[in-house]
Amino acid sequence: MSNLSASIVGTGSYVPETILTNAELERLVETSDEWIISRTGIRERRIASATQSTSDLAAEAAKAALQNAGVTPEEVDMIIVATVTPDMFFPSTACFVQTKIGAKRAVCFDVSAACSGFLYALEIARQFIASGAQKTILVIGAEKLSTIVNWTDRNTCVLFGDGAGAALLQHRPGSRGIRHTHMGSDGKFADILQIPGGACLNPVTAENAGERLNTIRMNGKETYKQAVTAMLDAGNRVLEAAGMNASELACIIPHQANVRIIEAIAERMKLPMDRFLVNLERFGNTSAAAVAIALDEANRTGRMHRGDHILLVVFGGGLTWAGSLIEW
Ligand code: ACO
Repeated sequence: MSNLSASIVGTGSYVPETILTNAELERLVETSDEWIISRTGIRERRIASATQSTSDLAAEAAKAALQNAGVTPEEVDMIIVATVTPDMFFPSTACFVQTKIGAKRAVCFDVSAACSGFLYALEIARQFIASGAQKTILVIGAEKLSTIVNWTDRNTCVLFGDGAGAALLQHRPGSRGIRHTHMGSDGKFADILQIPGGACLNPVTAENAGERLNTIRMNGKETYKQAVTAMLDAGNRVLEAAGMNASELACIIPHQANVRIIEAIAERMKLPMDRFLVNLERFGNTSAAAVAIALDEANRTGRMHRGDHILLVVFGGGLTWAGSLIEW
């Protein structure tokens, strides 16, 4: 059995044009720009148009990643889309992306791990490449969260945005690529962050339509606490597996939920904030897309150099969490 390394050979991202500012949210719910910035760090987020679906956003990010890598759609063996806002329950969003980008040979499926989905998908892809079963895999995190936000709930509607990010994986001789990944889940916390209805357990019916069961419910304080603990644990585990110290990391790309969560992690890792890529002030929390969009930003702005070590850490509903240590 082969054990080939898997490297990220191209990245791409796409965010919709429409910007929703904190000032505009002040007109929707009882909130303020000052509250949102001081509690979360978010200034604005992007909102997809009525005709744009998650697979449209994903396809744009995928095309950009292919272009960045210099790879054609026909060369793609597999497409994995991480999302909590699929176009439909089925077919998978990945199948829609396949048609939109013309990746005729690809095997396509989705992964459901909320905000951790992109790293879960990255690890699945890494294993397919390590085994030699597939050579070229598109991993995409894409969300149209604006369709599952309760726009009358100030506790959640200020936090989320739409967007997509993609990474193309291949074996690159001479690079260790994704060195270590740690993934964790704990279903006993399922109730602190969820969309309780709209699926088989609690279908939305004419009688319960007013309850908006198909929108995000969150216990913010508990989520915050769990996020810090889980992301620190995942980060420490992959560093330990590699025999590295946090100070050796060139860049950390954490889930973009709340700048205070990232500051708490920076403090505990004894690292300066400028080592962390933070773009949530512009995009809010885009769930599975967040780290993928930030990774593309880091790549395109030249923040990472060949041989640098970068750490991706994520956290989301489930609960789920993950960390990946990558040699760029
Ligand atoms: N504007 C004004 N006031 C608000 C708003 C708002 N948008 N939202 C809540 N408040 C009020 C609350 O009602 C509360 O008022 P009360 O004391 O009268 O009840 C007060 O502000 C304080 O609320 P707290 O919950 O103490 O605020 P906190 O400092 O914890 O910040 C926040 C809340 C931003 C949600 C924070 O807890 C957080 O970021 N948690 C993590 C969220 C997260 O990461 N979620 C995504 C996970 S990823 C995924 O899988 C989708």
